[in-house]
Amino acid sequence: MYTAYGPPEVLQLEEVDKPRPGDDEILVKVRATAVNSGDWRLRKADPFGVRLFFGLMKPKIHILGGVLSGDVEKTGKHVTRFKVGDEVFGSTDMSFGAYAEYICLAENGALALKPNNMTHGEAAVIPFGGATALYFIKKANISVGQKVLINGASGAVGSAAVQLAKYFGANVTGICSTVNIDLVKSLGGDKVIDYTKEDFTQNGETYDVIFDTVKKLPFVDSLKSLNKNGILILSAAGLSDMMKGWWVSLSKGKKVMTGVIVQTADDIAFLKKLVEGGKMRAVIDRTYTLAQIAEAHAYVEKGHKKGNVAIEL
Ligand SMILES: NC(=O)c1ccc[n+]([C@@H]2O[C@H](COP(=O)([O-])OP(=O)(O)OC[C@H]3O[C@@H](n4cnc5c(N)ncnc54)[C@H](OP(=O)(O)O)[C@@H]3O)[C@@H](O)[C@H]2O)c1
Repeated sequence: MYTAYGPPEVLQLEEVDKPRPGDDEILVKVRATAVNSGDWRLRKADPFGVRLFFGLMKPKIHILGGVLSGDVEKTGKHVTRFKVGDEVFGSTDMSFGAYAEYICLAENGALALKPNNMTHGEAAVIPFGGATALYFIKKANISVGQKVLINGASGAVGSAAVQLAKYFGANVTGICSTVNIDLVKSLGGDKVIDYTKEDFTQNGETYDVIFDTVKKLPFVDSLKSLNKNGILILSAAGLSDMMKGWWVSLSKGKKVMTGVIVQTADDIAFLKKLVEGGKMRAVIDRTYTLAQIAEAHAYVEKGHKKGNVAIEL
């Protein structure tokens, strides 16, 4: 739990009452969750805009954790999608609360039965990057034969984006640092650019879609590397990039996509299908226990994890 914005140490283990599911909810015994960029951003209110939605002076939400995998322990009386004993995985969306032994979730939320070929730890790390990448890839209509550049290809969103863009038939180039080249190739990258050695804006290549998952590319340079009618996806854009992107889309004929993702039960079910069909896998850098959550946050906040950090309960 945390009751004040701040460094990882604001996260403290506390005992709370076991929640009770409402009529349309399920009670899930959480087996695994993950530390994602969204969690540390909410923990320290970075960017400042977090305070406008999650509490101006102190957080309104006290338990973070936006993804989970676990067992259905109880169901509300109107629940039909799940039954006691089902193994489920998915996202809490904006309500968070998965850094806990139990959580109540709406049965029609972004949840599905856990992939049958994954552990809870593996399943828990799929929805954050998977649903984010899927949202933008569908919105940009990435399709067979398109040339797609993915920056931050070794992160949570990037590692999912490489796999999903390949699934939809694109020719994928991933950008990462030297240590992550083999990882990005193993995820299906047709070509990998090492950002420590090569500046993609200078190599003369252009792309149908540039998907910047970590907001490290200069906005204007990325536009120059887009084909005519190309799309620049800025999934990590802040407010000022959103405004700039909107202006570029209006005035320059190159589309810039930003915004907050929406995820549904169908999206999580789609990801499950890909995982079970061997088209997508979990990339886990480190696994921590819930008691080590502050340590896990400190690591993730450095911005250099490979894929995901799982928390097992
Ligand atoms: N729009 C939305 O609704 C939405 C939803 C989810 C997430 N997001 C945002 O998406 C962002 C990314 O999230 P994430 O969880 O995928 O990040 P992440 O996993 O923390 O990203 C870490 C990765 O970024 C790579 N990286 C660091 N510097 C780089 C650079 N200069 N060039 C290329 N790669 C670099 C690192 O590789 P190296 O160690 O090799 O540098 C590392 O593998 C966050 O800001 C988050 O807020 C937005």
